[in-house]
Amino acid sequence: MNQEQVKKEIRRLAEERNALLLAHNYQRDEIQEIADITGDSLGLSMEAARTDKDVIVFCGVHFMAESASILAPQKIVLLPRPDAGCPMADMVTPEGLREVKARHPGAPVVTYVNSSAAVKAESDICCTSSNAVNVVNSLEDKEVILVPDRNLGRYIADRTDKVCHFWEGYCPTHDRLETAEVNRAKQEHPDALFVAHPECTPDVLELADHICSTSGMYEYCRRSPNRKFIIGTEAGILYRLRKENPEKEFILPTSKLICPNMKLTSLEDVLHSLQTLSPEITVPLAVRERARITLDRMLAVPRD
Ligand code: 13P
Ligand code: SF4
Repeated sequence: MNQEQVKKEIRRLAEERNALLLAHNYQRDEIQEIADITGDSLGLSMEAARTDKDVIVFCGVHFMAESASILAPQKIVLLPRPDAGCPMADMVTPEGLREVKARHPGAPVVTYVNSSAAVKAESDICCTSSNAVNVVNSLEDKEVILVPDRNLGRYIADRTDKVCHFWEGYCPTHDRLETAEVNRAKQEHPDALFVAHPECTPDVLELADHICSTSGMYEYCRRSPNRKFIIGTEAGILYRLRKENPEKEFILPTSKLICPNMKLTSLEDVLHSLQTLSPEITVPLAVRERARITLDRMLAVPRD
């Protein structure tokens, strides 16, 4: 089968299986093209919970499919590439987290959605890159433990009066963006605005005109009257930015902004998943119930 035939067969099978195809904003272009919905990690999991479809094909990484399964436990959640993990999520374990909690008794654990279900189950409340500051400031406690991203943690710490204890994890893709690369891009494109994801290092974030989640970038670039943007996040975001804003220019400061895990899923993997209804991602009941509480607490925090 050629690519077009594979795409057609995926759409036909999705109909037959009553399946919803979700793709994260960092997925390969052709995966975003065939998806029913593209979005950020939490937004997609909420779509999974909202849909009346029986099957969710989650084109993303493992923790995202777990979140979908936590929020929609009665549905079949498929992750076409079970080896698509998130190195940052893997940097924290429930055991390690229990040790940190013992060192800071009473301090609530605020955990980024980029984490395993088991770590969420050990936490008090979740956050995303778009609501992290609101979530932390909604707590009455004076001290918080921020897990697992040290960069998102420092970004929050700069915007709250609370004492913050960081887990020293990081996203290898965002962490490798260097200030020299951003400055070079700024020199080459002095009329461009620099938009960065809070998973970038504090030095890089200092250079940003705007800091936001991937979904926030679509919104910001669409609304801005500016016509040129330097983008500080994973390259997959360019697909929709360019499609939705054909008159604007989007520049990556380096070709290193690729998350290999996000690029694993191919059209053939999606087709195979729909044909076999596998690999299915499930979360054990006890973990799922506790992780659900931390996600629900976050969802109850008012938005700006
Ligand atoms: P968001 O899409 O939630 O901003 O997350 C970025 C990311 O790194 C997901 O892996
Ligand atoms: Fe994890 Fe970073 Fe890849 Fe997102 S971009 S899946 S945070 S390694």
